[in-house]
Amino acid sequence: MEYINTNLTLLKKQENKSYMKVEGLLNKVHCANALSFLQRMPCDSVDLIITSPPYFQQRKYGAGGIGNETTEEEYIDNLISIFNECPRIIKPTGAIVFNLGDKYLNGNLSLIPYKFAIKASENKNVFLINQITWAKTNPTPRQEHRKLIQSTEPFFIFAKTKNYHFNLDEYLSHLDRKNKKTNLSFSKAGSKYFDIINQSDLKDEEKENAKCELEKVITEVQLGKIESFRMKIRGIHKEAYGGMDGGRNNQIRKNGFTIIKITGNAMKKDLIESPVEATKGNKHIAVYPLYIIQELVKLLSNRGDIVLDPFCGSGTTCIAAKNLERNYLGIEINPEYVSLSEERINETDISCAEFLL
Ligand SMILES: C[S@@+](CC[C@H](N)C(=O)[O-])C[C@H]1O[C@@H](n2cnc3c(N)ncnc32)[C@H](O)[C@@H]1O
Repeated sequence: MEYINTNLTLLKKQENKSYMKVEGLLNKVHCANALSFLQRMPCDSVDLIITSPPYFQQRKYGAGGIGNETTEEEYIDNLISIFNECPRIIKPTGAIVFNLGDKYLNGNLSLIPYKFAIKASENKNVFLINQITWAKTNPTPRQEHRKLIQSTEPFFIFAKTKNYHFNLDEYLSHLDRKNKKTNLSFSKAGSKYFDIINQSDLKDEEKENAKCELEKVITEVQLGKIESFRMKIRGIHKEAYGGMDGGRNNQIRKNGFTIIKITGNAMKKDLIESPVEATKGNKHIAVYPLYIIQELVKLLSNRGDIVLDPFCGSGTTCIAAKNLERNYLGIEINPEYVSLSEERINETDISCAEFLL
């Protein structure tokens, strides 16, 4: 077991605590305070923690809990106490994802999510691998005269070792499929290069060779072997790197052309677009998008893994886990929300989940 920092191993050896057995906790939402529940969770037992804690002084969820502290510092300290339990609980291949929203305090954007992330990164048992920005396609249209509408929120992803699960091909894979469809039409557009070759000053033999290679590469796109390509033809396109000697420029000079194949899938960026989840019909007031959570579950865990949400709310994380054939474990302080999430989870028909994958 390779930890980034060995403090955690020491900690585990020193502690003689008796923890709960994870098997008995699975596929349920537990009515409890996140901190005391997490303190009783066994070490290295969960694959992924995804959560959205209450934002600072934003809403009253009832049943106490965090979010309504009098100062920002107190709120962040409470949040950090909960966060600091997580590295011990996740497996060495695991990850922790926290989503937080910002707030204006006396007209000043407080940057609370980032203050939290900076403090969380001080924990030597984790490291921050990404901050994903959720761009809301339908933000609340509350336009102030001298401020722009806030339309983004961060998701911070922490890992415990360099061996964290990261299924890049499964993340936003529907965009890859969309790309491939686009490429069929691109391949038609790619045929514009035939005209360019004909109009070029290449020698006849070079033109024939260029057209032959162009046909081959168009077929590769049509068969889905590559994503797309670009062609550079001598005398038509500028040489790369200001004409310095190098592989591409040498090919253009020698053969009259070069073909740059673009393989692989769409670029997977730290930006995800999604509408705010409609709250109509959901009694919970702050639900995060199932779409984003499913993408993160696919990225950071495998089928059969255990996904935990310590601020379960209406159960979105658990629904994402169930849809994707993972085990879930929810913790929620408000008994009304525990019942609500159980209702939503039970209504989730896993056979309908395919369209979300
Ligand atoms: C932002 S909401 C989570 C919403 C959830 N992501 C969803 O999509 O439905 C935060 C939740 O944390 C709960 N909560 C607040 N303090 C808590 C605590 N100390 N332990 C457990 N749950 C708590 C609140 O009752 C609230 O339902």
